[in-house]
Amino acid sequence: MARHRYFTVEDAISKEDCDTLIKIYEDTEWCDSHVVGYDVEGQYDTLRRSNVKWLKHNSFFTRAIWSYMLEINSKHLGYRITGYEEPQLTRYIVGDYFDWHIDTLYNDSEPPRKLSAILQLSKPEDYKGGELQLWNGDLDPEKLPIMEQGSFIVLRSEEWHRVTKVTEGIRYSIVFWATGPKLV
Ligand SMILES: [Fe+2]
Repeated sequence: MARHRYFTVEDAISKEDCDTLIKIYEDTEWCDSHVVGYDVEGQYDTLRRSNVKWLKHNSFFTRAIWSYMLEINSKHLGYRITGYEEPQLTRYIVGDYFDWHIDTLYNDSEPPRKLSAILQLSKPEDYKGGELQLWNGDLDPEKLPIMEQGSFIVLRSEEWHRVTKVTEGIRYSIVFWATGPKLV
């Protein structure tokens, strides 16, 4: 049986709700992205270029996606999930990207990220480039089927993935992480 490397939920959040969220935040202050755990001494400053904002744990979107993540976990993966990190709303404008990386942080102080989920807030026609891809060991990375507004994808946080450079328009998404006891 093929190994499932990702799981998708189509139409998880309505398109109207996605548009509303973008409208709420698009004209507010955004922070430059910062790659936790990677940019010690600044050597990975070029790994990522985008703007971010943090969502609250009691946001409607947060609660909805967490419940979907739990369903997928119990149905397909069976990880022990004991918490979540604050979700990150991300904006990629022309020239922005996030190069190959994994989301799991290996340190002793915090429980590791086990599952990552990406909610597609923008309409596919609102931007070009900005593709989420999964490393599969081949020269051509696997393009993930996350294009429809309001759909999302769950993958193991240890999977290598990237977002290619946006060449036109703006791509908005929200990233969620579920954490749990150490993997070993
Ligand atoms: Fe990531």
